[in-house]
Amino acid sequence: MNNLIELKNISKHYIVNKKTTILKKINFKFKKGLIYSIVGPSGSGKSTLLNLLSLVDKPSSGEIKINNYSIKYEDLSVNDQLRADKIGIIYQQNNLLPDFNALENVYLARLAIDNDEEKAISEATKIIKKIGLWNRIKHFPSELSGGELQRVAISRALINKPEIILADEPTGSLDHSTAKEVF
Ligand SMILES: Nc1ncnc2c1ncn2[C@@H]1O[C@H](COP(=O)(O)OP(=O)(O)OP(=O)(O)O)[C@@H](O)[C@H]1O
Ligand SMILES: [Mg+2]
Repeated sequence: MNNLIELKNISKHYIVNKKTTILKKINFKFKKGLIYSIVGPSGSGKSTLLNLLSLVDKPSSGEIKINNYSIKYEDLSVNDQLRADKIGIIYQQNNLLPDFNALENVYLARLAIDNDEEKAISEATKIIKKIGLWNRIKHFPSELSGGELQRVAISRALINKPEIILADEPTGSLDHSTAKEVF
């Protein structure tokens, strides 16, 4: 009943010279309110799977349902809105926008909801304080450490209180105690 994300026969292959299958007919139901870990060696397809779950990438075949709604890949704007409202993504490489400072990187994600600038700034400021980066709020990505970048990316993923948080090794460049705190 409480299936949040359902994968039906999901396959993904890439063609570089020859066809390489990365994911093969995956069937899985992610339930609401639980934490799942995807574990496997480097190159086994973890990031590929997360990119499918976040609707950033499209499966070669199969179906993905979110809250029982079957994703239609041609509905770009529907999927963009679904992602903005429901999904927070923390990428393996933080993917921050280089020309925007820490505060702006976080508040742009909030703007995507309803364009309320005042609300976006106050919410972004709150979450950046919470994650311990108050004194780096005006810094650009090139002026932040690896762990600080990751914390900005985490703030950006959480600002809209998403139903689904997808995290690709989000604490990989944090020291042990900061990682524990972030988790
Ligand atoms: N755009 C692409 N074109 C071709 N092959 C790709 C592409 N993206 C990923 N791959 C291949 O798919 C495989 C799985 O990649 P993926 O990034 O999902 O691995 P991963 O499990 O996240 O690994 P890691 O632990 O190193 O992050 C890799 O062998 C990679 O070479
Ligand atoms: Mg990966």
